[in-house]
Amino acid sequence: MANLVITIDGPAASGKSTIARMLAERLGASFLDTGAMYRAVTLAAMQAGVDMSDEEKLLGILETKKFQFAAKEGKMTVSIDGVDVTEQIRRQEVTANARHIASAAKIREKLVQMQRQFAANEEKIVTEGRDQGTAAFPNADIKFFLDADITERAKRRKAELQSKGSSESMEQIQRAIEERDKSDESRAVGPLRPADDAIVVDTTDLTIEQVVEKLLCCVEEKKRKSTAVLRTPYGENAKSAEKEIGSCFRRNDNVKNSADSAVKSKKPKMRWFRFARWCCKIFCRVFFRMRVYGRENVPDKGAFVLVSNHQSFLDPLFCGVYLKMPMYFLARDTLFANRFFGWLISSVNTIPVKRGEADLSAMKKIIGKLKEGNGVCLFPEATRTSDGKIAPFKPGFGLLCRRGEAAVVPVVIDGAFECWPRHKKIFSPGSEITICYGKAIPAEQVKNMSDRTLAEVLTDTLRRMQTKSRIKHGKKPYNY
Ligand code: C5P
Repeated sequence: MANLVITIDGPAASGKSTIARMLAERLGASFLDTGAMYRAVTLAAMQAGVDMSDEEKLLGILETKKFQFAAKEGKMTVSIDGVDVTEQIRRQEVTANARHIASAAKIREKLVQMQRQFAANEEKIVTEGRDQGTAAFPNADIKFFLDADITERAKRRKAELQSKGSSESMEQIQRAIEERDKSDESRAVGPLRPADDAIVVDTTDLTIEQVVEKLLCCVEEKKRKSTAVLRTPYGENAKSAEKEIGSCFRRNDNVKNSADSAVKSKKPKMRWFRFARWCCKIFCRVFFRMRVYGRENVPDKGAFVLVSNHQSFLDPLFCGVYLKMPMYFLARDTLFANRFFGWLISSVNTIPVKRGEADLSAMKKIIGKLKEGNGVCLFPEATRTSDGKIAPFKPGFGLLCRRGEAAVVPVVIDGAFECWPRHKKIFSPGSEITICYGKAIPAEQVKNMSDRTLAEVLTDTLRRMQTKSRIKHGKKPYNY
C-alpha cells in the first residue's frame, strides 16, 4: 500500500477531480479518478448493447474486456481493449447510464479491488470518487469530503459544458445533478457519504486554488505532527485531531457530536428503563416471532433520529426495544388523557405532540433531546399505513434532524401491518415481525440535504429495504 493515501469524496460537480489532480501534482503523488473507471465500464456495456439492469452481463463486460487506466501528465487516460476512450467516457449518455454500474454490488467490489491494486503500486496517491474514504480506503491517512451548494455546482457544470459547446439550461443541469446525487446517496452499496473521520470542506465560496491551498495546509499540518498521530483514526480521537488540524475545517459533525454530547448527555432513569425494556422484550418473545437485523448500524452514543415506516400501534416498541440506548418518541397528546397510560408512556420518554398543528413546544423538546446526544424515533408518514405500503414521507422532520445535528438511521418494520392492521381492534399473536436498521446518514450529510431530498431519499431507501426484506422472507414485495 502507498505510504500516503489521501481520499477526496463528494457529490457531482463539487470540484473533486480538478482539486484532486492539482493536489496530487503539488504533492508529487499519483492521482486516481475512480469515476473514470465507472464511466469506462458503462461505455463498454453501452458499446456491447448490454441490458443495463442485467448485473451478471455487466459483470461479464468487466471480466472480458481489457480496461487500462493510467495517469499521464496529471490526467487519467482510459482505454478499452487498447482503444483510447478518455474523451468518450465523458459523453452525456455515459454520465446518465453510469448509475447502473455504480449500483451493481459485484462490479463495485471488483472496481474497489482494482483501486486498491492501483494504490499498492504507488508511493503516494490522491484518489477521488464517492466511496474512497468509506469503502475503498477506510484507513486512508487523510480523508476529505468536498461539497458545495447545488446552484453553485450547477453553475460550475454549466460553464464546463458551455466550453464544450453544449447549450443545456441551468434548470436541466441542476436537475441532472440532483438526480445523480440522489442515486449516489441512496444506493445500497458504496453510497455517497462522508466518512466519519472525513474533513468536510464547503467549496461554495472558494476558488479552486483556495481549496487546494486549504487541503495542502491540512496535509502539511499532519506531516509536521508525529507519525503516530498521523496514523491515528480520527473517529477515536476526534477532539485532539480537531486541534491538530486547526480551525479552518469542520470535522464531520457526526463524530464531534458523539464525543461532545456523550459528555453532556443526561442519564435518564436507567433502572426503570431497563426494567421496562425487559418487560417489552418478554412481551415480544411471547406474542411474536421477531427477527432483528442491522442493530450495529444504530449509534450507541450521540444524536440520531430513527426514521421508520408506520404499520401499527406497536411500532415504537418494535423500534426501540432491541436498542441499548433509551429512545425518545412522539405521541399524540390525546393518548396522555388517561392518567395511568399517560404516566406510563411519559416514563419511557414519550413526548406529547398536538395533532394537526405545528407544535413548536414539542419540536423544541425533541431538538433539545437530540442536542443532549439522545436518539429520537420518528414516523414521517404521520399515520399508520392502510395497505402495508410505505407512503411518501412528509418532509417536516428534516428540520428536527438538522437543528438537532443528528445522524439519520432508516428502519423498516415488516409484518406489523399483517399483525395489527388499522381496522382490527387487537393484534394477532404469533405473527412474524422483522425489524431492519439500515446504514446511518451522517449528520453532516443530513445538514446539506434539503427537507424534500431527505424525505425522498429515505422514502426510497425504506421501500428498497422493505422489498429486500420481504423477498428474503418469501413474502410478495409491494408494488411501488
Ligand atoms: O465522478 P464522476 O462524475 O466521473 O463519476 C461518474 C459516476 O460514477 C458517478 O455518477 C457515480 O455514480 C459513480 N462513481 C461511484 N463511485 C466512485 C466514483 C464514481 O459510484 N468512487
